[in-house]
Amino acid sequence: MNSHEIRKKYLDFYASKKHTIIPSSSLVPDNDPTTLFTGSGMQPLIPYLLGAKHPQGTRLVDSQKSFRSGDIEDIGDNRHTTFFEMLGNWSLGDYFKKEQLPWVFEFLIDHVGLDPKKLYVTVFIGDEKNNLPRDTDSVAIWKDLFAQKGIEAKDVEMGSEAEAAEKGMQNGRIFYYDGKKNWWSRSGEPSKMPAGEPGGPDSELFYEFDFVQHDPKFGTHCHPNCDCGRYLEIGNSVFMEYKKNADGTFSKLPQQNVDFGGGLERIAMASVYSSDIFDIDLLKGIVTTLESLSGKSYKDAAYTAAFRVVADHIRSATFLIGDGVSPSNSERGYFVRRLLRRAIRFWDTLGIANGGLSQIVLPLLEKYKEAYPETYAQSARIITEIDTEEKKFRATLRQGLKEFEKLAQNKQISGEQAFALFSSYGFPIEITLELAKEKNITVDREAFDTEMKKHQDLSRAGSEKKFKGGLADTSEMSLKYHTATHLLNAGLRAVLGNHIGQKGSNITPERLRFDFNHVTKLTDEEKKKVEDFVNEAIARKLPVSWKEMPKTEAEKLGAIHAFGEKYGDIVKVYSVGDETTGVLSREFCGGPHVENTGVLGHFKIAKEEAVSAGVRRIKAVLE
Ligand code: ALA
Repeated sequence: MNSHEIRKKYLDFYASKKHTIIPSSSLVPDNDPTTLFTGSGMQPLIPYLLGAKHPQGTRLVDSQKSFRSGDIEDIGDNRHTTFFEMLGNWSLGDYFKKEQLPWVFEFLIDHVGLDPKKLYVTVFIGDEKNNLPRDTDSVAIWKDLFAQKGIEAKDVEMGSEAEAAEKGMQNGRIFYYDGKKNWWSRSGEPSKMPAGEPGGPDSELFYEFDFVQHDPKFGTHCHPNCDCGRYLEIGNSVFMEYKKNADGTFSKLPQQNVDFGGGLERIAMASVYSSDIFDIDLLKGIVTTLESLSGKSYKDAAYTAAFRVVADHIRSATFLIGDGVSPSNSERGYFVRRLLRRAIRFWDTLGIANGGLSQIVLPLLEKYKEAYPETYAQSARIITEIDTEEKKFRATLRQGLKEFEKLAQNKQISGEQAFALFSSYGFPIEITLELAKEKNITVDREAFDTEMKKHQDLSRAGSEKKFKGGLADTSEMSLKYHTATHLLNAGLRAVLGNHIGQKGSNITPERLRFDFNHVTKLTDEEKKKVEDFVNEAIARKLPVSWKEMPKTEAEKLGAIHAFGEKYGDIVKVYSVGDETTGVLSREFCGGPHVENTGVLGHFKIAKEEAVSAGVRRIKAVLE
């Protein structure tokens, strides 16, 4: 079965179990300060997992566009991609383990047609220190399900990954692993979770490719979580029923949730029984196009990795740009820039002489036309942005080449110099090494690696800090900033005009950041007027309320929403002010917000700047 058929079957299957199909959220999370990108289906649903009422009910199903930036340098093997689609079904305090596991089993075995003998599952072993019980309930359910297919499913102890590599399969079917493997939260195992974060034990599904021989380089014995590629994780049922407390203990959430995430392409791999994700329809099309452009063969081992990098990176860049992230040096934009630069490098490895990267965009998006029409609709803009970035980078590369020639006169290149070529001219170390070899000069590779590591540690420290600044203490201040963001949006429209739309929002307990479309810099007078608008709304102590309504009705009322976002048929609309006071702001929004503007304090614009052509950014604080 191809990916398209699987996606459709999955949505239909859960719809038949009374789930509402909801559209994919943007790759740019809305008001989630914890991550730069949507990397799983559950992120956009956090408020509802914590107990807020979802306008579409308690059973939801979707296919969510996801991007995991951590994987960029790893791309090139047969199963990792930076962009993927996560099939998700949710119970928001509705059904739990005894429905979830049989349904997912039924879907994979009876509807997709996978072989139950090749399916292995893992479960949570328990965590005494944190008083989190072992998941024996799931084990009993799994035993029963396998028995129905005539398979005796033995449960075996694994523990940590290292222990598992010592123990091997032990003729098991159900494997108990520790919290590093079988516990899910946005920040990982129980001890890594910040206060306020929801999480829970999970049960993962692995499919066996029996033609892949275990490679001892990954551990003495093979086991489901081994990285050799024999077992591929295709899905994960998270039983999200815990929340971490400020004192480090865990308590139950007000409701028991299910968060299932299945890798669409990985299920397709299992279905066609190929261990190469680039064999799957969605990526194979790009690979074939690249083969005809380059005259090279994907099967030629000298080029396989280059094909994979180009295909993966152009696809991710396409979807990210589609969701409003332009290549730039700012947080998110830099990932798009890196993706395109790496793609250009490997594009050149493939030796494609005619035309640039953007010619892949349309053939690629044709495959997604039905599932993600909002991205398809942006194709012209995506092509222009990729073209512009490629031209810019090629010019930089030419600059770098000149710089290299200068350095080469000394017959040796130091680590710092090689790193400067990389950081200032985007000159990859591989190119520096190749050119140096041609000219018979030396490059201090070790010193370069040290510099590179310093740089990576710095950016990693940056993102860890980002996470800690997130949910941990957001409750009070973030709510205030969220409401202030709505007022700012309304103020900008009142002062600058109704063309203003939200292009991005990011909230921390220290400030708000709001991106919007506008061409010129704001004058001091305009900034003052916007501040006055917000501060007057605060002084008037206006009530903040929300209501669910059909999308058409919300649009009729003039409720505004973020640029390019997709919404379901029933939406939640937040209003500031009411019939008595007059409504100042009306926005499509999941919340949460403060109840009255009176608590916000004094609003001040701290900075106003350009982020990219036609997009401006305001950072503002509440004092
Ligand atoms: N949220 C879970 C995951 O990403 C399903 O694995």
